[in-house]
Amino acid sequence: MKRLTIPAIRRRKQDGVTAEPIVMLTAYTARQAQLLDAHCDMLLVGDSLGQVIYGLSSSVPVTMEMMINHGAAVVRGSYHAAVVVDMPFGTYEQSPAQAFENAARLLKETGCAAVKLEGGAAMAETVAFLSQRGIPVMGHIGLTPQAVNVLGGYNARGRSAAEADKIVADARALDAAGAFAIVIEGVVEPIAVAASEAIACPSIGIGGSARCDGQVLVTEDMCGLFERVPRFVKRYADMATTISEAAETFAAEVRARSFPGIDQTYQPRGA
Ligand code: KIV
Ligand code: NA
Repeated sequence: MKRLTIPAIRRRKQDGVTAEPIVMLTAYTARQAQLLDAHCDMLLVGDSLGQVIYGLSSSVPVTMEMMINHGAAVVRGSYHAAVVVDMPFGTYEQSPAQAFENAARLLKETGCAAVKLEGGAAMAETVAFLSQRGIPVMGHIGLTPQAVNVLGGYNARGRSAAEADKIVADARALDAAGAFAIVIEGVVEPIAVAASEAIACPSIGIGGSARCDGQVLVTEDMCGLFERVPRFVKRYADMATTISEAAETFAAEVRARSFPGIDQTYQPRGA
């Protein structure tokens, strides 16, 4: 199985139609990537790793070093899905040149195929700069978590006419700038559909609409491993219960001296 390419993913949407929706999940570790790879078109090394694995209260403090280490692990653990790595807050907003320098590091030091950055029309010049210089860019609009300090929280976007118009205009601007796909997060459904239909490249919904060209979720959220999740998460497994029950049983067996048993210990040969 050859790794999917970014142009192949972009071509999934032809003349406004996507016959086969694009499947994307987050991955932060090599083992997670191995398990998800066969089922996904793309794996996203999301800066949500700040909250999910580092216990930070937002993605704002996430560093290049974190994204490089986890990005490289996910590339090593996968061979089919295209790997996209999030650009951390503060590493791309200042100028196209700043964005290029850091995006190039992500590509060179992880082996990923593309980067993702947050923001609409304000980032269009940067998206064009990168994509014209060999770095495919995925956009991310609507509820953009790195802007939590400006947005004031993680509420759905697009409820007022002005906000709705801005989301569709942002989608158009990134599409025209050459984004190969755009994540539409936490947007009231009719506006998510309008933004998706306004662009030639595929939309990837998360709290968007089933009519988007693809969907993404945070793997820990959909596996029931992360306790507080937004409305748009559907739980496909209950891993928190599985892990805590395993720990409970292990603890009971250690305390009862019934673990390790004969199968988990080394006996002298011939004994
Ligand atoms: O960081 C992340 O996991 C993301 C997805 C939720 C789109 O950006
Ligand atoms: Na992100």
